[in-house]
Amino acid sequence: MVVEATTTTASDSNPKLSHPVCFVGAGPGAEDLLTLRAADRLRHADVLIWTDSLVCPRITTLAPDHCERIRTSTLTLEEMLPLLINRQRQGAKVVRLHDGDTALYSAINEQICALNDADIPVEVVPGVSAYQAAAASLSSELTIPGVVQTIVLGRAGGRTGVPPSEELDRLAALGASLCLYLSARHIDEVQTTLQHHYPDDTPVAIAYRVSWPDELISVVPLSQMATASQERQLIRTTLYIISPALNGGRKRSRLYSPDHDHLFRPSH
Ligand SMILES: C[S@@+](CC[C@H](N)C(=O)[O-])C[C@H]1O[C@@H](n2cnc3c(N)ncnc32)[C@H](O)[C@@H]1O
Repeated sequence: MVVEATTTTASDSNPKLSHPVCFVGAGPGAEDLLTLRAADRLRHADVLIWTDSLVCPRITTLAPDHCERIRTSTLTLEEMLPLLINRQRQGAKVVRLHDGDTALYSAINEQICALNDADIPVEVVPGVSAYQAAAASLSSELTIPGVVQTIVLGRAGGRTGVPPSEELDRLAALGASLCLYLSARHIDEVQTTLQHHYPDDTPVAIAYRVSWPDELISVVPLSQMATASQERQLIRTTLYIISPALNGGRKRSRLYSPDHDHLFRPSH
């Protein structure tokens, strides 16, 4: 990819001005679900380039008044990269803000590759992902001993597709706690596929804008997953957790069992 960016650099003449471009996970929405490091980078930003289609606007108010704010929802990668590169080369502290955690469906990889090509250092600050915030909002653990011990983070294929070995049918065959991102638009298909593997009464958490002021979370049986989503007209910023763990149950873990000794609690 060819990215046009100016080459005169303030940071070249003064290396002290060379700040890494900082990719920050904004968490699900609430300001107090930001990490301390993320809040620090935001408070010191000169330029904030943010995913306005997904990041809760309240988060951006942490940036100082002088901070230049650039929204990315209408930009292509080719339009955004020169902004990152030029502002960094001018000596600005550039924060690139993505929703949730940076490791999941954030598209930071293509940006970091281009910055590496331009010899620009990067820093990545993780965030709380939507599945963690949704489980917390339901006061739920997704790994209950004897019930389910694995969490799968995935998505339905949709327009951009997934590798064949990661088709929803194969993810669902595990019967694990399944957290589905980016899947609300395909909800009829999703429900039908899931019903081949999970019982109809498996609890499904439908979490819309977790931790935003208009958060909506409900738990419905799998057989009502599509209808419940359509009734609420959910097509964006919705996460699904399909999990037998949401049934609660009272199975306890071995970790705190009196008959289970370990390094910190040896048998006497
Ligand atoms: C491009 S992905 C980014 C995921 C993000 N990096 C994360 O870790 O949560 C966007 C999808 O994440 C989910 N999502 C992000 N924030 C959410 C929130 N506050 N509530 C519910 N779902 C959310 C939705 O499935 C949305 O379509």
